[in-house]
Amino acid sequence: MDKEARHSGHAENLIASEALKLSCWAACYYWSMKRTMTEPIGIQKAAKLKTKPNEGTLGFGQIFTEHMFLADFHDGEGWVNARVEPYGPLALNPAAAVLHYSQAVFDGLKAFRGVDGKIRLFRPHKHLERLNNSAKQLCIPTLDPELALSSIVQLVDVERDWVPKTIGTSLYIRPTVIANEAFLGVRPAKSYIYFVILSPVGAYYPEGMAPVKIRVEEKYVRAVEGGLGGAKTGANYAASLMAGEEAKHGGYTQVLYLDGVHRKYLEEVGTMNMMVRIGDEVVTPALGGTILPGVTRDSALALMRKWGIKVSERQISIDEVIDAHKHGTLTEAWGTGTAAVISPIGALAYKDQHMVIHDGQIGLLTQKLYDTIVGIQYGTAPDPDGWTVEV
Ligand SMILES: Cc1ncc(COP(=O)(O)O)c(C=O)c1O
Repeated sequence: MDKEARHSGHAENLIASEALKLSCWAACYYWSMKRTMTEPIGIQKAAKLKTKPNEGTLGFGQIFTEHMFLADFHDGEGWVNARVEPYGPLALNPAAAVLHYSQAVFDGLKAFRGVDGKIRLFRPHKHLERLNNSAKQLCIPTLDPELALSSIVQLVDVERDWVPKTIGTSLYIRPTVIANEAFLGVRPAKSYIYFVILSPVGAYYPEGMAPVKIRVEEKYVRAVEGGLGGAKTGANYAASLMAGEEAKHGGYTQVLYLDGVHRKYLEEVGTMNMMVRIGDEVVTPALGGTILPGVTRDSALALMRKWGIKVSERQISIDEVIDAHKHGTLTEAWGTGTAAVISPIGALAYKDQHMVIHDGQIGLLTQKLYDTIVGIQYGTAPDPDGWTVEV
């Protein structure tokens, strides 16, 4: 069925009635994640359609759409059996490697419904490149990037009615690979599942962008050089829970991690990369394997370079930040990440220091970055670098 036909009310009714018949659709696409082999992608529609949530009350990651994308990897065969199925639990052997040794990677990106009604993915190639880089670090077989992109495009296309319409809302996309071999020895598994699930999510700032209070972490570290800090893998998030909880109990939104060796250099803030503006320079910690190479970080750096702003990816110590605050040159600080895009930091607490930044208000550059990236995502600003992919 072509796109025009699908947009007509007649076509939507047709889809609904066919879904009720639990029909396994004839394959119309060819998809395989193994270059040497192509096999039809099967689309099994959900028997019962879910009620769409109220867009005004959407939170994050609580509601899932009707379908998911799946493919299997078997040693010697590669990635096979690509399919779209009704959303539901996975059958896992209790001995599956992921449950014991956490051999798993994921990524997180979003689809936006623009003011023009078009659905756009934001920088999916970059997210999938990172998924593959994470996979390599965990000895997980990589995915063909173009075919992985087509898995996301096809699933979002099947679920296009689930992309919310209100500005600020979006459809969160979670591609994941887990090791499902039933084997308790410690070695890379021989079989895996790739799945993609979708979740409509609410506006991060329903009442407008709000500066956050961050505690600089002294007790816990997130990752060290040579470890997994640069990979998007569950173990990093498990390791960050305690620090996050303690910060919340202390009245802070999140923690800013320092490096694990000197306990001195800025790393990242919760699930965001960190940027500070000192004088006429914007500084962000360099990527060295301990922090996640954020796609929003990359986007913000590219925009600022284009605007002629001096940006440095380098080590920056907490002492330098304190010093800049004392001298009045720390003018802005913000976090970057898919969830909030740009999150202004209004205050930083470290030992007995409480640094209020820009009077706890949003800085001009922080706002400009937010407006520009959000504009590209919703199709209200030009996209000169082709960051979005239409579905
Ligand atoms: C630990 C961590 N750092 C940084 C980021 C920001 O990355 P991105 O901008 O790609 O969302 C995320 C979110 O994905 C994260 O989980």
